[in-house]
Amino acid sequence: MAESKKHLLLVEDEAPLREALAERLSEHGFEVEQADTGEHAIEQLAEFAFDIVITDLRLPGLDGTRVLEAALLRYPDIVGIIVTGYGTVKDAVDAIRRGAIDFVTKPFQFDELLHALNSALEQRRLKSENAYLRSQLQERYKFEGIVGRSPAMRAMFQLLETVSASASTILVTGETGTGKEIVARAIHHNSPRRAQRFVALNCGAIPETLLEAELFGHVRGAFTGAIGNRQGRMEQAHKGTLFLDEVGTMSAGLQMKLVRVLQEREFERIGDAHTTKIDVRVIAATNSDLQKMVADGQFREDLYYRLNVIPIALPPLRDRREDIPLLVQHFLKKFSGPESGAFVNPREPGHRVDSPKASESRTLTVSQQAMRCLMAYSWPGNVRQLENAIERAVALSGGRSQIEIADLTPELQQASNEASAPDLQLPDEGIDFEGYVNRIEHQLIRRALEKTGGNKGQASRLLNLKRTTLVEKLKRLEPRTG
Ligand SMILES: Nc1ncnc2c1ncn2[C@@H]1O[C@H](COP(=O)(O)OP(=O)(O)OP(=O)(O)O)[C@@H](O)[C@H]1O
Ligand SMILES: [Mg+2]
Repeated sequence: MAESKKHLLLVEDEAPLREALAERLSEHGFEVEQADTGEHAIEQLAEFAFDIVITDLRLPGLDGTRVLEAALLRYPDIVGIIVTGYGTVKDAVDAIRRGAIDFVTKPFQFDELLHALNSALEQRRLKSENAYLRSQLQERYKFEGIVGRSPAMRAMFQLLETVSASASTILVTGETGTGKEIVARAIHHNSPRRAQRFVALNCGAIPETLLEAELFGHVRGAFTGAIGNRQGRMEQAHKGTLFLDEVGTMSAGLQMKLVRVLQEREFERIGDAHTTKIDVRVIAATNSDLQKMVADGQFREDLYYRLNVIPIALPPLRDRREDIPLLVQHFLKKFSGPESGAFVNPREPGHRVDSPKASESRTLTVSQQAMRCLMAYSWPGNVRQLENAIERAVALSGGRSQIEIADLTPELQQASNEASAPDLQLPDEGIDFEGYVNRIEHQLIRRALEKTGGNKGQASRLLNLKRTTLVEKLKRLEPRTG
């Protein structure tokens, strides 16, 4: 397969210079996007996984080093080149320290820039082969197996550090798959209680009638079938941590009993006249909106406040896309490591395919195209869904060293089409702008109509247009038929 075009972001405030450079770079096969300020550049970086960023050092507002920092934070493998004016070489050297691969001093010949660019790309290729650097980079963004580099996650690591030391009750909220359980475990493992048990109870997975006995235990004869005394999860967690998952599903009666435990640190086993004193740290989790449930009278307000002493809200993955590359690396390592079974031959269960590298983990990377899809997708199932997607992709990648777009589900493959602009060509002889734009409009409308079997209402929704706008456009584009 031919190597795909490299996507380059060119940041320069002088319009004539920027446009001239963009043109020459496009001629040399780069897909160029332009930004006139640092702020715009950062916005564009947030939306698209560029391969290269070339930025002027001196910009009005945010300067080039800021652009570079933002780029590297999102994409540690991005090629960064700084363009500096005369006499600012020191600043350029500084930029290199911060992660730029090279710099070019103004005024420069285009070939000089091209040379710097090509050698930087080569450097990056070598760097991406360096698994050691990769793993080093990862260590800085980890807390007990939780990875993330987004501001939200880094703030959370700090919070975890602090709250682990205390015995306060914690309420972890977040959509499904955002990492609520892994966070609860991390807190326990960092707490003074780490030598004691972490006991998890999923309140949503146990029928209501059994939940109480599961939580509080019972004494002999408490109910039919209670043949002996039995400890509940609460007691098992004594001096340790009790993790109450899906706490929003608890019945009203049980909610009341839980309030008492949190308040008085005591309870009775079912059928027991004797009160049991308990020392547990409670961490509760939920993906429902407890505040709303309180307002609707479905969840006790006093319980809500007792649980919500320290709230930890995990943002959905689509709101912290900069964590995606790091999570991808994390899961690649997990699923392609020596113990992962990545070399297991499906026809011979339990036998590894003979490979010279079978004893070490293979270094798998993700193609830029595939990464673009992973970055663009909305991830309704959050990190769990990403984990599953990577496991699947690793399995499908066979012995290849790179995950390709074809190893992703069709849904994911679709994501990048929706997010990126079409690949437009501008020939040297120029184009008829109006006609060109009309043709694109026409094509999109035709596609939408084909997809919806000619239904203009549905087609307009697909295109996010008003129906009347679509009809007008059709009339203009197809005067005879529309
Ligand atoms: N930041 C992270 N770093 C590494 N792995 C993560 C991270 N967040 C989640 N995971 C992994 O994703 C999977 C789902 O996480 P977890 O079970 O903690 O989610 P959850 O919020 O409890 O989901 P649910 O509401 O569906 O129970 C787990 O395999 C977990 O290890
Ligand atoms: Mg969970």
